[in-house]
Amino acid sequence: MKIGVTGATGQLGVKVIKELKEKISTDQIVALVRSPKKAADLGVEVRSFDYNEPDIMVESLKDIDKLLLISSNEIGKRLEQHTNVIEAAQKAGVKFIAYTSLLHAETSSLVLAGEHVETEKVLKSIEIPFTILRHGWYTENYTNSIYGAIAGGVLLGSSGDGKISSATRDDFAKAAAEVLTSEGHEGKTYELAGDEAFTMSDMAAEIAQQTGKNIVYKNLPVAEYATALENAGLPEGIAQFLAGTHVSTEKGDLFDSSHQLSQLIKKPTTSLAQAIADALAGL
Ligand SMILES: NC(=O)c1ccc[n+]([C@@H]2O[C@H](COP(=O)([O-])OP(=O)(O)OC[C@H]3O[C@@H](n4cnc5c(N)ncnc54)[C@H](OP(=O)(O)O)[C@@H]3O)[C@@H](O)[C@H]2O)c1
Repeated sequence: MKIGVTGATGQLGVKVIKELKEKISTDQIVALVRSPKKAADLGVEVRSFDYNEPDIMVESLKDIDKLLLISSNEIGKRLEQHTNVIEAAQKAGVKFIAYTSLLHAETSSLVLAGEHVETEKVLKSIEIPFTILRHGWYTENYTNSIYGAIAGGVLLGSSGDGKISSATRDDFAKAAAEVLTSEGHEGKTYELAGDEAFTMSDMAAEIAQQTGKNIVYKNLPVAEYATALENAGLPEGIAQFLAGTHVSTEKGDLFDSSHQLSQLIKKPTTSLAQAIADALAGL
């Protein structure tokens, strides 16, 4: 049995490969990547794989039994790219596909949701058994801003008291590896999120507590938050996009209390406090 992982040189993909290596033999794992040089240290077989190159994908998927399709990061091109991958998998005879979608994709107001919903429909329209791994926000999206908050004494946002059930990439990677190496997941859609939910105020308080510094959360109107992100150096489009995710957060789109992630990985998800401690320790 061979398992192929797309996006294996990405931040999530590297962790999925690591988790798979702990569960199965390395000769059963294939990294499907568009930049083979970046994959040299993964310690598994590497094959060329570009979501825009159907013929190369079919060739690289031959003898792959199970495929993890990690969603592309090229927003706007993803439905076409994901469809290319799924069609290539059909042609190559892949027997199972797991796909990383978005938490509560069909009800989420996040602008990202549409491409995920449409990809899920493509998966459901074909004969290959599949599992949908709907990911909540990665905790690293938040811990990346810790040092800015420490420097300025303020954590900015526009999500009000919106609750965030984020989880670390490590935990999402463990769940993917579990689904790829065990039975009973076919046809299922998992809503994957952290066990605990926090607000941006909770996060500011946790950073303050761990660092001994005075750090508060300042909630801004969405336009002001977008401007603040631009002033911090982000391109206008990305600033608008990130500010928009805070509007969805306030609506509750990043909250989930189903605990399906901890059930899959058979342990509690990494807490915000631990993730902040790890980030402060440079882990
Ligand atoms: N839930 C969240 O908070 C969150 C946050 C960020 C992203 N995401 C989504 O989850 C995915 C995985 O997250 P991540 O943090 O691992 O993102 P990432 O580090 O940006 O990795 C994305 C991976 O996709 C690969 N890729 C992009 N375009 C491709 C193409 N045309 N053909 C083949 N491979 C391609 C990249 O290849 P290279 O290594 O060659 O660049 C990279 O390995 C992202 O792509 C995005 O869809 C979710």
